[in-house]
Amino acid sequence: MQVVIRSTKADASWLVAHMVASAIRENPSIVLGLATGRTMERVYEKLVQMHKEEDLDFSLARTFNLDEYIGLQPDNVNSYRYYMNHHLFDHINIDKRNTFLPDGMAEDLGVECGHYEKMIKKLGGIDLQLLGIGRAGHIGFNEPLSALQSRTRDKSLTPMTISENSGEFANPADMPRRAITMGVGTILEAKRLLVLVTGGTKAEILAKAVEGPITSMVSATAIQLHGNVQVVASDSAATLLTGREYYDWIFDNEPEWAEYR
Ligand code: GLP
Repeated sequence: MQVVIRSTKADASWLVAHMVASAIRENPSIVLGLATGRTMERVYEKLVQMHKEEDLDFSLARTFNLDEYIGLQPDNVNSYRYYMNHHLFDHINIDKRNTFLPDGMAEDLGVECGHYEKMIKKLGGIDLQLLGIGRAGHIGFNEPLSALQSRTRDKSLTPMTISENSGEFANPADMPRRAITMGVGTILEAKRLLVLVTGGTKAEILAKAVEGPITSMVSATAIQLHGNVQVVASDSAATLLTGREYYDWIFDNEPEWAEYR
């Protein structure tokens, strides 16, 4: 794992957007794993800008999102399908038929989850998975005690996640209590993980995820099991990391980071 700390949320988001753009340029038919949430909004804003100003080409890209609420229609403003269209897909040259999210309206959720797993495999697996971390320690919606080998399935959300996300709903009580999420095991099969964490409210959970013991109580600790992970954090999110001096040294000296310095 490599950890890079940038001074602001804007700088951290800029770096992540450039890393994604460079992966797309290297492999135009990339399979991207995408995340939602407030953290990713600036990343998508920057990718849209790069599409418009630098011809970043999404025409061959395929995408799979981590998760979707159960019971929201795709055109509901709080669904993750709406979020993705609104923040990214409507503004770039991606073929929407190549953009996949779990169907939270499926009659049989078990069948839908199995189908989602099969689609990921059919397209060759995820090349680069973007991840945020929720305050409950989740990646996707893998709430505490999610098995480290779990697959795509429906999950009940924790009270912390409900209080964290319900502010996004016009009527907070309308927030679904359940979601479909890729499993921790599904996420760990991606060839590369790129994690973005910003803001002081995430400092505690970031320190646990990166430097704490691996535990299903904090599903984000599972990223320590993956062999190709970059974590990008803002200064405010990084205050409780103990290894900062070493992380900074790597970024300042290792040749692979030269293009981003
Ligand atoms: C959300 C999503 C995750 C996201 C995380 C952080 O609830 N299910 O995919 O990465 O929790 O959200 P935010 O960026 O809004 O803090």
